[in-house]
Amino acid sequence: MAKDDKENGWKEFFWNPRTREFCGRTASSWGLILLFYLAFYIFLAGLFTLTMYAMLQTLDDHKPTYQDRLSTPGMMIRPRGEQLEIDYTVEYTETWERYVQALNNFLSPYNDSVQAQKNYECKPDQYFIQEDSGSLKNFPKRSCQFNRSILEDCSGITDRYYGYNEGKPCVIIKLNRMICFVFSVSSVLPIHSCQKYKLGKDEWTDDSDKIGELKYFPPNGTLNLMYYPYYGKKSQVNYSQPLVAIKFLNITMNEDVNVECRINADGIAVGSERDKFAGRISFKLRINSRY
Ligand SMILES: *[C@@H]1O[C@H](CO)[C@@H](O)[C@H](O)[C@H]1NC(C)=O
Ligand SMILES: *[C@@H]1O[C@H](CO)[C@@H](O)[C@H](O)[C@H]1NC(C)=O
Ligand SMILES: *[C@@H]1O[C@H](CO)[C@@H](O)[C@H](O)[C@H]1NC(C)=O
Ligand SMILES: *[C@@H]1O[C@H](CO)[C@@H](O)[C@H](O)[C@H]1NC(C)=O
Ligand SMILES: *[C@@H]1O[C@H](CO)[C@@H](O)[C@H](O)[C@H]1NC(C)=O
Repeated sequence: MAKDDKENGWKEFFWNPRTREFCGRTASSWGLILLFYLAFYIFLAGLFTLTMYAMLQTLDDHKPTYQDRLSTPGMMIRPRGEQLEIDYTVEYTETWERYVQALNNFLSPYNDSVQAQKNYECKPDQYFIQEDSGSLKNFPKRSCQFNRSILEDCSGITDRYYGYNEGKPCVIIKLNRMICFVFSVSSVLPIHSCQKYKLGKDEWTDDSDKIGELKYFPPNGTLNLMYYPYYGKKSQVNYSQPLVAIKFLNITMNEDVNVECRINADGIAVGSERDKFAGRISFKLRINSRY
């Protein structure tokens, strides 16, 4: 008997036919609760949408609002094999033709004819500043020509194999695109310099015998100031990153040669604590020759 009462008590808690209550509340009471939560959530969703909208209004479509302002840019090489390694045998065309192909593809947008069509002939040795004046957007912003022919022996024009067939390969260095990056005003021009790099140890060694003589294009490996500042992909649609090419004129054959290139300019900290790889790049060259 007592057990039945208990069971009935449970059942009546869920649904009491006498008072027509469900879980201790009438239908209208439940209705009000649901209504309250519905209104509450609609209000929250509205608030969220409004906040998002207000925030998006403040964003400038042409310039990222938040960006990591690194003081030093990252670098990359072309051609880049796996592991930043260029490894081939001079006498076997099939071991180096992919590097030549990669350079052809990479440099194709730098063809003088393409640059003349897309970009502007800027005044060299000074920043190409194109600020917005107030709310008036200076858009789209122009970009400066970087002609492939500047790279001379490493342009693929005069020497269509970039020296790979003679064991004097060219390596092209580019900086990552840095929005609004300008070099320290005191620096004249940033210079790339490459030296032999002792692998595993964070040090340069002046092992010029092994690395041999280097030739930089443009001369001294400089990046002209006119290519800076860069205002971003949306503002400068036709921007061509300036490049530096290095030709290894007398590198030791049949041996791994680790090379490190660093950007070299006043006000640029190389390998800072924040980013060990900032402003420098290391890669391995191994040029084999059967003779
Ligand atoms: C650039 O020039 C090379 C020959 O020098 C040509 O093969 C290539 O198609 C050109 N690329 C463009 C995009 O015009
Ligand atoms: C790039 O090449 C084009 C076509 O040859 C030429 O008109 C232009 O002056 C060159 N630009 C620079 C900056 O040398
Ligand atoms: C970008 O290049 C195209 C041709 O490819 C040219 O018509 C356009 O004017 C250029 N835009 C700017 C901002 O220089
Ligand atoms: C290259 O650098 C050397 C020494 O810093 C300087 O004497 C020479 O004029 C520079 N050459 C060019 C073309 O900038
Ligand atoms: C090339 O380097 C070797 C040492 O690796 C040296 O003996 C030779 O004189 C160099 N040749 C030239 C032309 O500099």
